[in-house]
Amino acid sequence: MNIEKIRKNFPLLQRMPIIYFDNACTTLKPKSVIDAILAYYSEYTGCAGRSIHKLATKTTENFDKAREKIAKFINARKEEEIVWTRNTTEAINLVSHGLRFEKGDKVLTTNLEHSSGIIPWFSLSKKGIIDLDLVFSNNEGIFNIENFKEKIDKKTKLVSIVFGSNVTGTKVDLEEIIKIAHDNNALVLADGAQSVPRIPIDVKKLDVDFLAFSGHKMCGPTGIGCLYGKLDLLKGLSPFILGGETIKDTFLDTKSFKIEDVPHRFEGGIQNYAGAIGLGAAVDYLSSIGMKNIENQEKELSKTLIEGILTIPNLELVGPKDWNKRSSLAAFNIKGMQPHEIAMFLDEKNICVRSGMHCTHAFHKFINLNNGSVRASLYFYNTREEVKIFIEELSNIAKMLGR
Ligand code: ALA
Repeated sequence: MNIEKIRKNFPLLQRMPIIYFDNACTTLKPKSVIDAILAYYSEYTGCAGRSIHKLATKTTENFDKAREKIAKFINARKEEEIVWTRNTTEAINLVSHGLRFEKGDKVLTTNLEHSSGIIPWFSLSKKGIIDLDLVFSNNEGIFNIENFKEKIDKKTKLVSIVFGSNVTGTKVDLEEIIKIAHDNNALVLADGAQSVPRIPIDVKKLDVDFLAFSGHKMCGPTGIGCLYGKLDLLKGLSPFILGGETIKDTFLDTKSFKIEDVPHRFEGGIQNYAGAIGLGAAVDYLSSIGMKNIENQEKELSKTLIEGILTIPNLELVGPKDWNKRSSLAAFNIKGMQPHEIAMFLDEKNICVRSGMHCTHAFHKFINLNNGSVRASLYFYNTREEVKIFIEELSNIAKMLGR
């Protein structure tokens, strides 16, 4: 992989001398994605599937093409299995609002979830709609498969699980979890926000029932994400936003309507065409590099990052110390310092990291980090040289201000 050549594709990296290590939050955008968004707004603005003029026709063509690209990227059977959402959060909420739960139905989730993967279930449980149970990882974020086997039963309708953690960098064995869930007739909804951007995903091979992910964490624009669902399951899901695009016909006499086919029934109102087309360009870009190459590059970065960070005095790493067990991100604390303070010192050195709870209050509190952590999260366009500079600057901060 020619990183220097790749870095030239990212205008922001060319514009300023910055070390961008906040990729778990959002990634930078390559020029081809920016150009695709710009083209929609400057060359063919229109509404898809409605007006018949040439601008709208081009919008429809490119919007449909984008859906096909996403389907191919994750190896879905049909493009109808891809529903456009605003992001992972909306995709998970589409499932939590759309699945028909009956009394006694259980949902199983974990202590490792992002807020988007746990709050929707807390809410349904509070309303008495579901019985909710949690599988607890250890303090390093390693999923407890034995505990999962004990907790899953025939009442479990759904397992909602984060594929890759945005705090510990650990990944669950999704294939095994899905097998166990299916043996118990339970469905699996995977939060792929941190995984779809960095490893090859094959939804057919995984046999996952629902997969949620966001465009902006994989070189695409903000405000666009996807819910993948097996077609039959999507057909059984109730839409939770109704209006334009979601219906085929309306009847005043009976005050009723005829619902659209999947996936349009879930896509109420005018859509984020530029976003979807931009995400299509993003998966073209990622595919041109190769997801396997991206995964390998991140492994190299992870090794340098974790080995380096463990040399820093007074630093407490969140998650396993073995870089092999994690993606290329490191959340940590330095004794005697607040996470935001560390992030501000790093920002002065033009190093962008995130500090705080990273929308995972549940896990941070589980490991008694009530003020959260600092997190450096890398992507394939980062370099080992950047990691070395980061480690050096962080060491200086820790030596000067830590205790
Ligand atoms: N989920 C995003 C993060 O981890 C926002 O930073």
